[in-house]
Amino acid sequence: MRRRSVLACLLALSALSSLAAAQTITIKFSHVVAPDTPKGKAAAKFKELAEAATKGRVKVEIYPNSQLYKDGDELEALQRGAVHMLAPSVSKFGPMGVRDFEVFDLPFLFPTADAAYRVLDGAIGRQLFAKLEPKGIRGLAYWDNGFKQISANKPLHRPADFRAMKLRVQSSKVLSATFRKLGAIPQVMAFSEVYPALQQGVVDGQENSVSNLYTQKMHEVQKHLTISDHGFLVYAVIANRKFWDGLPADIRTALDGAMREATQYERAIAAKENTDALAAVKKAGTTQVYVLTPAERDEWRKALLPVRRDFEGTIGRELIQAVETEAARVPAVAPAKK
Ligand code: LMR
Repeated sequence: MRRRSVLACLLALSALSSLAAAQTITIKFSHVVAPDTPKGKAAAKFKELAEAATKGRVKVEIYPNSQLYKDGDELEALQRGAVHMLAPSVSKFGPMGVRDFEVFDLPFLFPTADAAYRVLDGAIGRQLFAKLEPKGIRGLAYWDNGFKQISANKPLHRPADFRAMKLRVQSSKVLSATFRKLGAIPQVMAFSEVYPALQQGVVDGQENSVSNLYTQKMHEVQKHLTISDHGFLVYAVIANRKFWDGLPADIRTALDGAMREATQYERAIAAKENTDALAAVKKAGTTQVYVLTPAERDEWRKALLPVRRDFEGTIGRELIQAVETEAARVPAVAPAKK
């Protein structure tokens, strides 16, 4: 009798463990941009890689274009576990009480994308991710959408052209201060509300990567686009910390590998997606594209220099200097193989 009950327990245990192993883990990944953008395509790539690497034990459900949660709701939804992954612009962490990331909103901070990657993938990027952990958020990777440009319904060549313009910005005090310094009136607004606001004249213009402008059809309601490269759009790929840390170790290892590969993919396509979007805007013929001359760009840069000083108190002079030093560091070129 005893032997039979032991056998029954063992069978039950093996059935349970195979059930657990077979159980699918669903990851809800929400974001606010169109699928055919660098972030949208990278999210799809992560899904493909994650499901393959876990042999189907993980299923990633992607909710693009603010379908599930929009700016202002998504971080709170992540913190309560209603969604498992996001990839928001780091300009949006301020309202949650983490303003340090706004260092990346300082105007003309990064000369190149590679300079940004050196900062994000190094000690500074890790130090900033650590600031999210007390908020129940695990930082997984940094993606980007290249350099930001400015669209409006009038030409923007010189700082004086911004005077009294209502300009949509993300929820970042540095971005608001930047455009206020140029004489504009910054209006914080969710990304999903920008197109209707431009169409109805609630705001006169906005700043963004061209792939965002094009995929949201903003070129249809903006007569002018100035190529200024004044800012760099940084994303943080983040997860609900309890969910992520609670994953089986082998699953987490597989997902970390999928995230590394998806990040390489995202960075490889970001610049081209924006170049292609600019070509599409020009082809549409709706928007006059103007590239700032070096002299004009210097004039913007000079007008905006005080913004850096004004934020040394809130962001920290040390952090600003560390980012600037790392961004300016010319990486040692690996000696050519003989
Ligand atoms: C914006 O709100 O303008 C952008 O951050 C949207 C995005 O995520 O690229």
